[in-house]
Amino acid sequence: MRTQMVGGLRADDVGAEVTLAGWVAARRDHGGVVFLDLRDASGIVQVVADPETLGDVVHRIGREWVLRVSGTVRPRPEGTVNADLPTGEVEVPAGSLEVLNESEPPPFPLSDRADDVDEVVRLRYRYLDLRRPAMQDNLRLRARVNAALRDAMAKQDFVEVETPMLIASTPEGARDFVVPSRLSPGSFYALPQSPQLFKQLLMVGGLDRYFQIARCLRDEDLRADRQFEFMQYDAEMSFADADDVMAVVSEAVSSAVEAVTGKRPGLFGRMTWHDAQERFGSDKPDVRFGMELVDLGPIFAATEFRAFQAPAVKGICVGAQGEVSRSTVDALVERAKKLGAAGLVWMRVREEGGTTVLEAPVAKFLSEPEKQGIVATLGAVPGDLVLIVAGERRMTNRVLGVLRLDLGKPVIGGDLSPLWVVDFPLFEAIGTDGRPTPAHHPFTMPHADDLDLLRGGDLLAVRSQAYDLVCSGWELGSGSVRIHQSELQQEIFSLLGIAPEEAHDRFGFLLDAFRFGAPPHAGFAFGVDRLVALLAGEENIREVIAFPKTQSGSDPLTGAPSEIDAGQLAELGISVRPRTKGASR
Ligand code: AMO
Repeated sequence: MRTQMVGGLRADDVGAEVTLAGWVAARRDHGGVVFLDLRDASGIVQVVADPETLGDVVHRIGREWVLRVSGTVRPRPEGTVNADLPTGEVEVPAGSLEVLNESEPPPFPLSDRADDVDEVVRLRYRYLDLRRPAMQDNLRLRARVNAALRDAMAKQDFVEVETPMLIASTPEGARDFVVPSRLSPGSFYALPQSPQLFKQLLMVGGLDRYFQIARCLRDEDLRADRQFEFMQYDAEMSFADADDVMAVVSEAVSSAVEAVTGKRPGLFGRMTWHDAQERFGSDKPDVRFGMELVDLGPIFAATEFRAFQAPAVKGICVGAQGEVSRSTVDALVERAKKLGAAGLVWMRVREEGGTTVLEAPVAKFLSEPEKQGIVATLGAVPGDLVLIVAGERRMTNRVLGVLRLDLGKPVIGGDLSPLWVVDFPLFEAIGTDGRPTPAHHPFTMPHADDLDLLRGGDLLAVRSQAYDLVCSGWELGSGSVRIHQSELQQEIFSLLGIAPEEAHDRFGFLLDAFRFGAPPHAGFAFGVDRLVALLAGEENIREVIAFPKTQSGSDPLTGAPSEIDAGQLAELGISVRPRTKGASR
């Protein structure tokens, strides 16, 4: 239907006879001729349509009409060259023009970013939203990432295997989406939260190196980096340890980054979970900027100041905040309290008679050596703002970690600063029933040096062989060395309070498989949506997904979720409670 795409037309093409097809992105009717911006998937070119030769239809053509145009490329007249457009030196006077389809006026402008268009409207007309160049770029970028990941894995001898969607539950910490079974009314399949158990079974099955770009489903509250459905780059390796997995994943991520930016990221950093907490107050530290948490405990070992007589006293130094207003500081204090701190001590760093002094309401309670100690330990200089939190160590780290991000976080895009966070704790908390909850999932191998602790020590101090990949302060993915012996797996289940019968019911197949020579194995998964969003410079993964759900989990385009008819319900053996007034089901 066409001789070429529009986006490649340049001054070199002047004199060429072309036939183009696309949508009308904009029209300018100057009474005489009509200027049309013709858009296809490659870009935009200006078409000049003259009603004298083409007839009155030219005046009727509206935005998003679909046209086929033939003409001879010519230079734009002097003074009308558009330097912002790659094709801006040329135009195509239409010798013939065919209307392939008409269009109603689009409900929102389709040109640049649609930041001020309501999300529901964008998703209701997603097919129009997708015509916008920014969305096109994002989806094409995504396809390049997928291709690069596949290529990198094939080069490293990984086999792509598809695992099933209709399964029994895989615990990843979220709620399952379930699918009723017609053949066994009252029974349900779960949709996979991840391919975790199947990829472990593939290792028992001798596949050695598996990977998949896998669709995963989790019924959890949606956020900027979370959708119900998302894609995982998922991998598992036999006879491999954590270092082997990290090397493979680093290579795959580097290849994907190179495919998009033309440049491989620098060396992947590595940091223990403990250091990440102590230095950045987070298990996904954003290491693109400093402002690290500094331990001020030794300075206040014998302090008279009550607030600092605490298990931990830590501070951060915020650069160039000397003139920060009182209301900003008050807001920071409120924020710290909301996050669980008893208070937030703040100090402005000033220069006075050639020396550096601290100016703050609490300054009078601190001794001179204590004040000097703060300045020296934090490396504070005049103009800085010092923030200090005292109290229980975890809380102190957490609160300062959040304030650090509030005050210093660079925007998404550019440097990914990939970082492996290693030696995660095996358990993240102890519940009111005295049972620990796993920090990763129940199949994670404890750290070899901490097995004694597991069998009668501080459970929260047990480290695991789990590792996360963090990029630009986003948790991109996580993985671990797995337990491959059924006895140890049973032991962990029993610590978690999963009774042997329940373990048998839920994971009997895995425990059985482990009795038949399961090889040592380890693996990893990362969120493809998140990697693509970071590379596209998008804050929300919705911008890199063709058909995402809204924040409230609905799809305004298709109307999902929707009711199903009585016949279908009957076939599934399901009856639905009548909706109570005012409540959504
Ligand atoms: P995990 O649960 O940490 O690990 O998930 C891995 C990565 O998947 C992405 N992710 C999501 N992305 C978008 N929306 C969501 N709702 C969502 N949930 C998770 C994140 C996350 O880091 N089976 C293990 C991996 C393994 O041990 O091999 C797992 O699924 O980027």
